[in-house]
Amino acid sequence: MYGYKLPDDFLIGTANSAFQSEGAWDKDGKSESWMEYYAKLNAGKPARLGMTYSEDMPDRGCFFYDNYEAYIEDMQKTGQNTYRMSLAWPRIIPTGFGAVNPKAIEHYNKVIDKLLECGIQPFVDLYHWDLPQCLNEKGGFTNPQFPEWFEAYAKVCFEAFGDRVKLWSTFNEAQVSLHNGYFSGTFPPFHKNMKEYLQAAQNCLLAHFRAVRLYKSMNLGGKIGIVNAILAVSPTDFTEQDVYACALHMDHYVGWWTEPLLEGTYPQRLLRENPNIAENMPEGYQKQLDEWFIPMDFVGLNYYMTKRTRYDPEAFGHFKRAESFYSAPGQFFAPYPPGLFDVVQFVSERYHGIEIYITENGCALPNIHDEEAECDDEERVTYLREHLRMCARLIRAGYTNLKGYYYWNDADSYEQLRGYDLRFGLTWVDHVTGKRRWKKSRYFFSQVCKSKMVN
Ligand code: BGC
Repeated sequence: MYGYKLPDDFLIGTANSAFQSEGAWDKDGKSESWMEYYAKLNAGKPARLGMTYSEDMPDRGCFFYDNYEAYIEDMQKTGQNTYRMSLAWPRIIPTGFGAVNPKAIEHYNKVIDKLLECGIQPFVDLYHWDLPQCLNEKGGFTNPQFPEWFEAYAKVCFEAFGDRVKLWSTFNEAQVSLHNGYFSGTFPPFHKNMKEYLQAAQNCLLAHFRAVRLYKSMNLGGKIGIVNAILAVSPTDFTEQDVYACALHMDHYVGWWTEPLLEGTYPQRLLRENPNIAENMPEGYQKQLDEWFIPMDFVGLNYYMTKRTRYDPEAFGHFKRAESFYSAPGQFFAPYPPGLFDVVQFVSERYHGIEIYITENGCALPNIHDEEAECDDEERVTYLREHLRMCARLIRAGYTNLKGYYYWNDADSYEQLRGYDLRFGLTWVDHVTGKRRWKKSRYFFSQVCKSKMVN
């Protein structure tokens, strides 16, 4: 008999982000984020990969801002012991830097207190893709002042909530939002400029260091890390070139956002092999890293899928994504549960047993616009079961540095570019009336949370 048992102190819960869940986008003094700004500007226009930018606005989310109590009570009933959420910078400091909005502090205090009252440990991201638009107008991540703006914002958050929040992350998936935003031009602010991308990435790392340094100096007794997207990558063919491309791919997606944060340098192989990247790096980048480097406590991994990589000397980084071995017709991402094992193993071994949380893992089934059918989500139950089994297997295999798992997401919410058409939630939401209903998957998840067993 195989026992898929999770440790009793394993953190298990759901996740969501401010701009995707809260709604109330202009309530109580909140200013516009670039997500809202570009959603309006681009509605109905071509987006990427043949997609059209949704006409939906992130102004409702899943109505979390107004209904947080009911959502948290549902989490308590689920039996989860943690919830990953993000704070909205444009809500807390509507002008980007300067005056703090007391209503935002009051709101997040209530959310955090409610979570704790319900026995749910908050895991808080300072930034999940919702830059105040007023800062974007000043150059956003490419402005040399960005690290200072971020540190000042982090200070407000640590001072206000640090007595109760013990797990912090600085940025969610910086590589996705910055690479797509400044290099491939498919996310806000839709630029296509390698130099800008590398500058934005450097500023983001410096901002992270400044926040970590500040956090440590405040002795608040918690942990701080970052959340990265990670793919299980394989070479397309058994050629030396494709195997090498795979290593470069990992250097870029994982190494770039882990190595400087744990070891103080960018992946050297990537810089050596790619004069196009090396030549466009910001001036004095290593000196800045030396000046600010401070190691973080853990890494959060958002794991959704597997990809294959091919060597391509013309491509950024000399690698190019190819189709996965696995496909899931109609699904947004093709799930591959064993990949979760591979990525935790890879990161643990490469980064000397660093503490790991699976900060996102989730499944969006095709929206069939039918409440009954959507709540009968047997496929999501299988998805959860398989990925949670991988967590149990990893721990049993000795990867006890894996400390937690967050399903993405708690309830059907707004999705960047796609609007409300893509549903990841364990709770079904009517985006017009706000009606909520547990899907089958939430009942299943609840059993796992309560028993710490995966059947
Ligand atoms: C992001 C989420 C997003 C999810 C599904 C992750 O990359 O952190 O904000 O909703 O993917 O696309």
